[in-house]
Amino acid sequence: MIVLGIETSCDETAAAVVCDTPQPHIRANLIRAQLPEHQAYGGVVPEIAARAHLDHIEELIRRALDQAGVGVDQLDGIAAAAGPGLIGGLIVGTMAAKGMAWAAQKPFAAVNHLEAHALTARLSDSVAFPYLLLLVSGGHSQLVVCAGIGKYRVLGASRDDAAGEAFDKIAKLLGLGYPGGPAIAEAAHSGDPKRFSLPRPLKGRAGCDFSFSGLKTAVRQTIAECPPRTDQDLADLAAAIELAICDSLVDRTTNAVAWFHRHYPQGSTLVAAGGVAANQRLRAELSALASAADLDFIAPPPELCTDNGAMVAWAGLERLRLGLTDTFDAPVRPRWPLDGSSPTATAA
Ligand code: KG4
Ligand code: ZN
Repeated sequence: MIVLGIETSCDETAAAVVCDTPQPHIRANLIRAQLPEHQAYGGVVPEIAARAHLDHIEELIRRALDQAGVGVDQLDGIAAAAGPGLIGGLIVGTMAAKGMAWAAQKPFAAVNHLEAHALTARLSDSVAFPYLLLLVSGGHSQLVVCAGIGKYRVLGASRDDAAGEAFDKIAKLLGLGYPGGPAIAEAAHSGDPKRFSLPRPLKGRAGCDFSFSGLKTAVRQTIAECPPRTDQDLADLAAAIELAICDSLVDRTTNAVAWFHRHYPQGSTLVAAGGVAANQRLRAELSALASAADLDFIAPPPELCTDNGAMVAWAGLERLRLGLTDTFDAPVRPRWPLDGSSPTATAA
């Protein structure tokens, strides 16, 4: 199968073409970030994001098809992220996909953006079900058992900020740019993570939930008491923040691994996905955890961890090849939990 995927749920406009034969691969994967449009406002402005998607989506789709060397008539389906995310952007992407699918009489797939992150490791590394997933992005932090397409069990989630949101908010406190994760990771390179001591919320407690707002408050206090004056101060604080977030994520994942071993003894893989999974320290720590627990560790390449069109195309392909299509009245859903199923999906 060969499928076009469109992603417009936040501040990246993306279009991609993926194929599953002879094995999963990407034929084109184009992305246009909107950083300059939002920079002056210190965060993503939903109205501006939706307009920017509208201005660029058509050209990105055309270029993706060109680069993949396929015409619309050769596609087996068209997928778009239909949620969760910013409603204006979601409408732009899904309407583009529905319009094309209607005109070309192709099946349409309304993809859950979280499911797209969850399935990326099957595109990049052909990971088999069941696997344990740490999904960490700007909007979500979750530990999930992925048992099959549409079969997800959420073991724990963030009680307040998502991990990426914590990186972004704390980076703002430090005057580092957006997105905060890469900015803090960059600053942390030359830092001493032990100079500042920061809390690890929920560490050592049972369960798989996360919490990051206490860490944000602790950083705010540290800055008030001891404002970073030199590049070295900033680097040391950034390193402590990165270490604290990674430690928290790894601690909660350790609990999830124990649960996964008990309930899915046949499962052999720990997967990381979402923008924060691009973090090198986190990847190294999860890899060590997995090998100690006798699991393989798979994280897609960093450019497939952050939002992209290929993951949406791939999730669409996986659904369509099972006969799961969506009708043209499929809604966009600003909130769409991974373990709640699409109301319009029908098995053909
Ligand atoms: O998955 P994603 O691109 O978008 C959402 O679905 O939210 O994730 C974006 C998040 C942002 O919060 C960003 O700061 C974080 O991923 N991020 C990182 C890194 N690259 C992106 N966090 C830590 N280290 C990174 N290298
Ligand atoms: Zn995402």
